[in-house]
Amino acid sequence: MKTRAAVLRTGHGPFTIEELRVNEPRSDEVVVRMVAVGVCHTDLRPREIPAEQYGGPQVYGHEGAGVVEAVGDDVNSVAPGDHVVLSFAWCGDCPSCAATRPSYCYKLRDYNMSGARPDGSTCFTDADGKPVGSHFFGQSSFAELSVVAEKSVVKVDSSLELARLGPLGCGIQTGAGAVMNSLAVPEGASLVITGSGALGLSAVMAAQVVGAGQVVAVDRHQSRLDLARRYGASDVILSTGDPGDLAENILDVTGGGADFAFETTGNAAVVRAAYEGLTFVGTLGMAGVGGADVSFGFRSMVSGRTIQGVLEGDSVPTRFIPYLAELNTQGRFPYDELITTFPLEQINEAEAASTSGDAVKPVLLF
Ligand SMILES: NC(=O)c1ccc[n+]([C@@H]2O[C@H](COP(=O)([O-])OP(=O)(O)OC[C@H]3O[C@@H](n4cnc5c(N)ncnc54)[C@H](O)[C@@H]3O)[C@@H](O)[C@H]2O)c1
Ligand SMILES: [Zn+2]
Ligand SMILES: [Zn+2]
Repeated sequence: MKTRAAVLRTGHGPFTIEELRVNEPRSDEVVVRMVAVGVCHTDLRPREIPAEQYGGPQVYGHEGAGVVEAVGDDVNSVAPGDHVVLSFAWCGDCPSCAATRPSYCYKLRDYNMSGARPDGSTCFTDADGKPVGSHFFGQSSFAELSVVAEKSVVKVDSSLELARLGPLGCGIQTGAGAVMNSLAVPEGASLVITGSGALGLSAVMAAQVVGAGQVVAVDRHQSRLDLARRYGASDVILSTGDPGDLAENILDVTGGGADFAFETTGNAAVVRAAYEGLTFVGTLGMAGVGGADVSFGFRSMVSGRTIQGVLEGDSVPTRFIPYLAELNTQGRFPYDELITTFPLEQINEAEAASTSGDAVKPVLLF
């Protein structure tokens, strides 16, 4: 099998469209013909790696949606022709997996971010016969045809429009799941959401579904705050430049602190402000990924507050993705309005539109 794919050959380099050979699936793998794939920040962060530290050519992409082309001998959950959304992979054996918390799999890195299967092999070969990294989040879906771990595959109703479903596999389920599952924000509780991008706006929408009380959205772009208001934020805070005043602003707007905060900027100073803007017993959920260390004042730590890491919104994808798709069909979770589409060949333009803030959730079409 051959496929078109977007390959990142070096840090700081562009994505290049190449033809790759796709090796046969193993017994526990599925060949998927992609219809569309969302672009998440986690696909773009490798572009920040200095060239000398970059590991080798790799196909990224972890919000794929498509149609099953073929299955390995031991695959039972899907059959050729099934419509699927692709999410993260997990081992199935560790204590987190046994506790039905797959996004905290002890081997999450091996299965999702090693650039290969856990045994180090890949499914793609380039024109020179050299291996190209695969199995990013079990799927490497910036490729028209990819070999995917069965655990990454979620079967969905074939009446749903596949082109809009891919982002449910990471960014959208993380934002919505943070509110619905990880923090389990109860009806009437107040919630501050720092960063109003794909994760933050999904969280704003989810806050409406669970009936949260005051919902305060924070961003550095007014256009993002306008979107947050459209999807139900009751208050917004424009935070440009130094976020030093942000905690005070949050305490003002909430009248003494929020019950919950959900952090998606990955900016250390914003994380600290979100924490300091909680009530004395509030909980901060952290999903944004940053490079800097975060520090907290000792006095604010000696309190009843909780800091909780959030991965993939505590989703069990086979249950949560169909649930979010159903809410979307009912008009109660309009995440699809955040999508801007690009052909696969315009992946570098899609990245630029995401970075500039023009596109909240770019989706590449095959
Ligand atoms: N934990 C997880 O499971 C998980 C899953 C997906 C993505 N992520 C990470 O979550 C983060 C958010 O992803 P996204 O897709 O929503 O990104 P995004 O770019 O769509 O949204 C981030 C938003 O934060 C705003 N922002 C950035 N710095 C700011 C600052 N200093 N002050 C105020 N606003 C600021 C931006 O304007 C933007 O609107 C990324 O770091 C991504 O890698 C984590
Ligand atoms: Zn596991
Ligand atoms: Zn992601």
